[in-house]
Amino acid sequence: MAVMATLARPLMASLLAALLLSAASAADSKNNPADQLVSLINSNRTASKASSLDDNQGLGCIALQYIKAYEGQCNQVGQSKKPMESSFAETFAPNCGVQVATLSKITGRLLACQSNYATPGQAFDFLVNDAKSLEVLHSKNHTEVGAAVTGTSGGGPYFWCVLFSSGKPNTSFKVDGGVPKSVRPGCFSGNNDDCMGANAAVSIGVGTWRLVAALLFSAACALAL
Ligand SMILES: *[C@@H]1O[C@H](CO)[C@@H](O)[C@H](O)[C@H]1NC(C)=O
Ligand SMILES: *[C@@H]1O[C@H](CO)[C@@H](O)[C@H](O)[C@H]1NC(C)=O
Ligand SMILES: *[C@@H]1O[C@H](CO)[C@@H](O)[C@H](O)[C@H]1NC(C)=O
Repeated sequence: MAVMATLARPLMASLLAALLLSAASAADSKNNPADQLVSLINSNRTASKASSLDDNQGLGCIALQYIKAYEGQCNQVGQSKKPMESSFAETFAPNCGVQVATLSKITGRLLACQSNYATPGQAFDFLVNDAKSLEVLHSKNHTEVGAAVTGTSGGGPYFWCVLFSSGKPNTSFKVDGGVPKSVRPGCFSGNNDDCMGANAAVSIGVGTWRLVAALLFSAACALAL
């Protein structure tokens, strides 16, 4: 009975979220799960008397590059596959059109991978699932944030990444020409991009059953840096 109850609740919640999301997408063209995750992060921070963080599109784009460094290997989250610090200047920034001279200190990161697509609310819950990740979430060291989500070749696994920085919001992670280079597939925060459309990696229209299917595997980790 207990097992039934614990399974049924997330299933109901997922179904409800899926219905709400599809209803919302009909009315709202600004449909970006990475932005939605940043909103959840900021409301949780402000509820805990921490500052609201600036959503930096350059940092968001770099978060998507960070995910891509894992090459879809879910089991490498928290393992040796963690990108090298030098990747920020050598690959992530150039790929996004972020000016290398404006890269700022990364003060925390949250990374998770799931076999199935999750709503931003569910992603928040598995990204922030222990004392360490909660400390990263609420850290006073951060001034800005960038978030990203992507699938791998049109399907799962789905990676979610949140990078925090202590940079000055308007002068750090500056993007050449003000618009980050296209780095599809995937969605990142801060760029007003409608990301649920036909070209997006995160095509949750591909069968709502995926949302309610049991998660086959998952991994999450928080790194304070
Ligand atoms: C913030 O997130 C943490 C971790 O999920 C949760 O325990 C806490 O209740 C949240 N706070 C608010 C105000 O929602
Ligand atoms: C904040 O930054 C200080 C100084 O770099 C560091 O010692 C501390 O661990 C950081 N706090 C968090 C929560 O990351
Ligand atoms: C940052 O830029 C925005 C828009 O360009 C502006 O409204 C805001 O005042 C700036 N903030 C700071 C701290 O300079």
